[in-house]
Amino acid sequence: MLKPFRVGLIGCGFMGRTHSNAYRRVNNFFDVQYEPVLQAICDNDQARAKSFADRWGYLSVETDWHKLVERPDIDAIDICVPNNLHHDIAIAAANAGKIVLCEKPLAMNAAEGEEMVAAVERAGVANFVSYNYRRVPAITLAKRLVDEGRLGRIFHYRANFLQDWTISADLPQGGTALWRIDAASAGSGVTGDLLAHCIDTALWLNGPISSVTAMTETFIKERRHQVSGKVEKVTIDDACAFLARFANGSLAIFESTRYARGHKALYTLEMNGADASFAWDLHDLHRLSYCDHRDDSLVRGWRSIHVTDSDMPYMDKWWVPGLQIGYEHTFVHQVADFLDGLAKNEPASPTFREALETQKVCDAVIASAKSGQWVEITSQ
Ligand SMILES: NC(=O)c1ccc[n+]([C@@H]2O[C@H](COP(=O)([O-])OP(=O)(O)OC[C@H]3O[C@@H](n4cnc5c(N)ncnc54)[C@H](O)[C@@H]3O)[C@@H](O)[C@H]2O)c1
Repeated sequence: MLKPFRVGLIGCGFMGRTHSNAYRRVNNFFDVQYEPVLQAICDNDQARAKSFADRWGYLSVETDWHKLVERPDIDAIDICVPNNLHHDIAIAAANAGKIVLCEKPLAMNAAEGEEMVAAVERAGVANFVSYNYRRVPAITLAKRLVDEGRLGRIFHYRANFLQDWTISADLPQGGTALWRIDAASAGSGVTGDLLAHCIDTALWLNGPISSVTAMTETFIKERRHQVSGKVEKVTIDDACAFLARFANGSLAIFESTRYARGHKALYTLEMNGADASFAWDLHDLHRLSYCDHRDDSLVRGWRSIHVTDSDMPYMDKWWVPGLQIGYEHTFVHQVADFLDGLAKNEPASPTFREALETQKVCDAVIASAKSGQWVEITSQ
């Protein structure tokens, strides 16, 4: 008999859909001890919340998250709203004794993140941040290869996250659809939105980052704000590139922009070790490129591993070898891991405390871009 896991999800947008789909699918594919119950959906747009409830099968609708977090029939609050709301909702939910799942980035900045960590730890509630790329099977496989020491001493890490959707100067900023272009609701631009993913994966695969030096640029300086109707200064970073040193002595280069014409969501990463390298690309997410210097020199070279065999991470739960899965499955994987961790009292990663490390790196990147100096990062 599965235990009910009664979810109150806040935000009916992009992530509201991926998370709802994951809750609906998880018991069909994974043996976990909980069964998600879509108890309530909350969105400040009532019409949107109602039609979302109908489509996904939520049992009730709220338009005020304050009410939702106090409801006694909810076990977990899942935060899928713009970044400026994460802090207040997470703290209120923790204070109400709820399990808290939060979309990335954890917060607008590390100071907010510290308060959120303190709240969930004080309340003793399970907590999790949705850095879903860790659960792309090819990336989980890469983590296994790194942990097994197959790459040897690590020299280099490089990651890009490239998009092109803000190039038009006519695109407004702010409001429901374009909150990402307004620092008041996003915290930062590509640094917190896209590089946060790259940083989380990097910390997971290669350990702590000790220092960074960054440059950012805002190419379009003013845009009409959708809420005020006025032309206002743009305060997000449109592009960011930074160099980093890891505590293990390796060097890194990260780049993100929304001005790379032709690229829609190109997240690429590569690690180079003394013995082997791997590379991965979100546009071909089920493949891992791997090159092992220990191979016989006659056949040595880059191989493309199709990560679909049943001994590959998560793949025994899906179809048959050779058949691939996609983006939405990463959210199913994280719900499965979270519920499994809950049953075993072994928290799934990243917890709020772990995700705070990414926030510290984001803050250091923004500070370095402002000062033009290297910035040190103290991790715990
Ligand atoms: N893990 C990932 O890969 C990933 C991808 C996209 C977004 N995100 C994160 O998910 C979060 C949401 O992003 P999104 O793309 O789903 O945004 P979105 O704009 O698609 O949806 C946000 C929803 O929140 C609702 N909302 C806004 N203010 C609200 C309030 N006060 N109360 C209730 N509902 C409110 C909006 O009406 C909208 O339905 C962000 O933190 C973002 O950084 C993560």
